[in-house]
Amino acid sequence: MPGITQALSYMVAIVALCLLRPRLAPPSPRASWRERGVALYGLLDVALLVGLVLGGLSVGWFTPTEAASVGAVGALALNELFVNSVQNVVPAVKTTGRRPPLHLDPPEHTPWRKAMSGPFRRSSLLALEPAARALTVEALAPLVARGHGELVSELAANLPIRILCVFLSLPEADAPARLHETGARFLAAFQARDFDALERESQKLYEVARALLALRRRAPLDPERDMATALVQMRKDGEPLPESLIEGALRQLLLAGHVAVTMMLGSVARHLAEHQELQEMLRRSPARIEAALDELLRLYTPNQGFCRTAVRSVTLHETTIAPREPIVVSYPAANRDPARFEAPDDFRLDRPQKHVAFGNGVHKCPGEPLARLELQIFCEELLARTRRVSLAGEVELAPWPEYGPRVLPLRFEPA
Ligand code: HEM
Repeated sequence: MPGITQALSYMVAIVALCLLRPRLAPPSPRASWRERGVALYGLLDVALLVGLVLGGLSVGWFTPTEAASVGAVGALALNELFVNSVQNVVPAVKTTGRRPPLHLDPPEHTPWRKAMSGPFRRSSLLALEPAARALTVEALAPLVARGHGELVSELAANLPIRILCVFLSLPEADAPARLHETGARFLAAFQARDFDALERESQKLYEVARALLALRRRAPLDPERDMATALVQMRKDGEPLPESLIEGALRQLLLAGHVAVTMMLGSVARHLAEHQELQEMLRRSPARIEAALDELLRLYTPNQGFCRTAVRSVTLHETTIAPREPIVVSYPAANRDPARFEAPDDFRLDRPQKHVAFGNGVHKCPGEPLARLELQIFCEELLARTRRVSLAGEVELAPWPEYGPRVLPLRFEPA
């Protein structure tokens, strides 16, 4: 009986969540991000509370939204208070296998970041730059020539995958299309909380990872440049890293390596399309593009929340969190905290404060240099090839789990 009660309460919770979801998208692109973040988790809480009350489930969580407390939770490098190894998202998603480095805590986490450090180094990425630029130009050309297009389906959803395939040296010609289809189905399953479908799509990504690892064992590349080779050749106390975890690490990159970039490409293009004066300034002074992108990453932080679990009782802002309670670090809310950023909803170049769009502490995004490179190239090429980019219709935002446009109709006036 408890099983049936639990299943029923989950169903009620999910129905409540589905009914509430349409309200999650902000009414206008100018809606306050902090309000949106708080509302999002608030509404999820409402849905799950139904399950909690009916089934006696333990499915609540805490969400710090101030920059100081998000920083405190994220930065606890020594995992004295919060660990990653219990769950990474709320509500918890059960899929096979642990995927380093995100699912591990130090010291287990450390060799994985060490293995990944070479391929993500700026100097290694310099070798990738010409190919990434060529792919960007190829993706932009038909849109600009036509004078209009829907940026997400025609560019943002594909370009980061194509660049990731080059970065990972995935040999098959159909790899970008396969990753695109699997990624889209994975996201749909995640949003629908269809765990069977989620697992199926996850396994397809594992297959891609396994094939690549087998290839790199037969034909290794430079481990300072190539991720699969670096993972295979990494040694800890003279021993290779566990095989299932190597597969998990690569599998994680196959998704983490493009989803947030897609969302950010859309957010950058939308902001530019809505701010002609910024476009003009950046066309006159391309050297300012890097700073502009940094501010856009703060304003439109794509990852809405990663989860930690308290290992012992801790008090943050007069709230006591008990051991084993999940806590979601809301990076977007922290990035719009008025206590940290003056006029947080305004775009301002050269803010002195650092943002946390890529997280902080030991789990800070290792792919940051690659993501920044992709955004930089996109922005440079878009602005150089156009005189004006503007909105050509209604913008639709993705509801969950990453923030950014899912439909972005644009008009392009060629340079
Ligand atoms: C604009 C693009 C991106 C954003 C905003 C972003 C953001 C983040 C954030 C906030 C985290 C921290 C998670 C936490 O605190 O638990 C993270 C972790 C991670 N990201 Fe990214 N990311 C981006 C692109 C990428 C790319 C391109 C890759 C790989 C090619 C990547 C790979 C990873 C990995 C492997 C982790 C886990 C790190 C660890 O646990 O030590 N990300 N990312």
